[in-house]
Amino acid sequence: MKSSEIDQAVAILKCGGLVAFPTETVYGLGADASSAGALRKLYAAKGRPAEHPVIVHLADVAQLPLWAREVTPIARKLARKFWPGPLTLVMLRAPGVSDAVTGGQDTIGLRVPAHPVAHALLEKFGGGIAAPSANRFGRVSATTAQHVRQEFGAAVDLVLDGGQSEVGIESTIVDATGARPVLLRPGGIAARAIEQAAGASLGAPQAEAPRVPGSLAAHYAPATPLQLLEDDLLLELAATLTRQGKRIAVLARSAQRPLLTGLTWIAAPRDPREYAHDLYSNLRELDAEECEVILVERPPQLPEWAAINDRLGRAATGSRRL
Ligand code: TXA
Ligand code: MG
Repeated sequence: MKSSEIDQAVAILKCGGLVAFPTETVYGLGADASSAGALRKLYAAKGRPAEHPVIVHLADVAQLPLWAREVTPIARKLARKFWPGPLTLVMLRAPGVSDAVTGGQDTIGLRVPAHPVAHALLEKFGGGIAAPSANRFGRVSATTAQHVRQEFGAAVDLVLDGGQSEVGIESTIVDATGARPVLLRPGGIAARAIEQAAGASLGAPQAEAPRVPGSLAAHYAPATPLQLLEDDLLLELAATLTRQGKRIAVLARSAQRPLLTGLTWIAAPRDPREYAHDLYSNLRELDAEECEVILVERPPQLPEWAAINDRLGRAATGSRRL
C-alpha cells in the first residue's frame, strides 16, 4: 500500500467521507467517529438502523481514555493480551462520545485491529474510526476489497485493498464493564482464551444486555435461502431436489462430490481456522450461482467451531426471512 493512498484516505475521512479498509477479521466501512455528519452518511450507506452501535477502531491502547471513561481490570487484561487483534471490548463511554456511535447507550465498543493497512490508516488519521463490517445491513460480511465494491459501489468514497482478511469472521465481542467478562459475540478468539486471559470465567449476559445487531437471530445472510443439515440428510435432499430439475448449491465438508447434475459444490476446509477464512467468500460464490437453495453441511458442535456455527445459524435464519 502506497503512503499516498493512506494520505488520500485520511483526507476523505477528515472531510466526512467513507473509506473501506481491511482488517484481519473482515473489511470495515470507516467514518470519522467524532463527526455526526460522517456517521449519518455511514448509517445511510449501510442501511443500518440508528439505534445500533458501531465499533470505534483505534491505532493503539494509548487512545483508550479518550473513548472509555473506565478501564476495568478485565478490560486491561484482555486489551494487553489480545490487542492489536480480533477482539472488541465494550466499556463505559467517555464524556463527549456521541450517541450516534453508541446507539444512545452508555457503553462503547472499542477495538485495536492488527492489520498493517488498518494500523497505518488509524495512525495517520489520529482519531477513532467508526467502522461496521463493510456489508449492507443483515448481509454477508466482506473479506476482500472486491466484495466491498460489489456491496457499495459509488456509496463508498475509497476502498483500501489489503488482500483477503486473514481471520475471515468478525471479532469476538466481550462486555468488559463488570467483574466477569461477558461474551456478546463469538469470534476469532475462543471463549476459553478470553477466560484464561481475564483470569475469570465468563459471566452470563444480563437481561439489560447491550444491544448487538450482529446477534440478531437473522444476520450474515446470503440472498439465496440457506439450510444447515447433517451430511447424510444433505446428500439425500440434494439428490431429491436435483432430480426435480432444481439447481442446488452446497457448502460441504467432504470432498466427495456426488455425481448429480445441477449441483454447485464447494468442499470447505476441514480445519476451523481455514473454514472461517473462506466462509464468507464461499457463501458469496454460492449465492452468485442463484440456485434454489444453499445447503450447508453442519460443522461439528465443538468449541473451535462456535463462531462459525453462530454465523451459519444466523445466516440460515436470515435467509429464510428475506
Ligand atoms: O471484526 C469486526 O468486529 C468488524 C471489523 C470491521 O472491526 N466489525 C464489525 O462491526 O463486525 P459490525 O458493526 O458489523 O458489528 C459490530 C457489533 C454489532 O453487533 C454492535 O451491536 C456491537 O458490535 N457493538 C458495538 N458497540 C457496542 C456496544 N456499546 N455495546 C454492545 N455491542 C456493541
Ligand atoms: Mg456486521
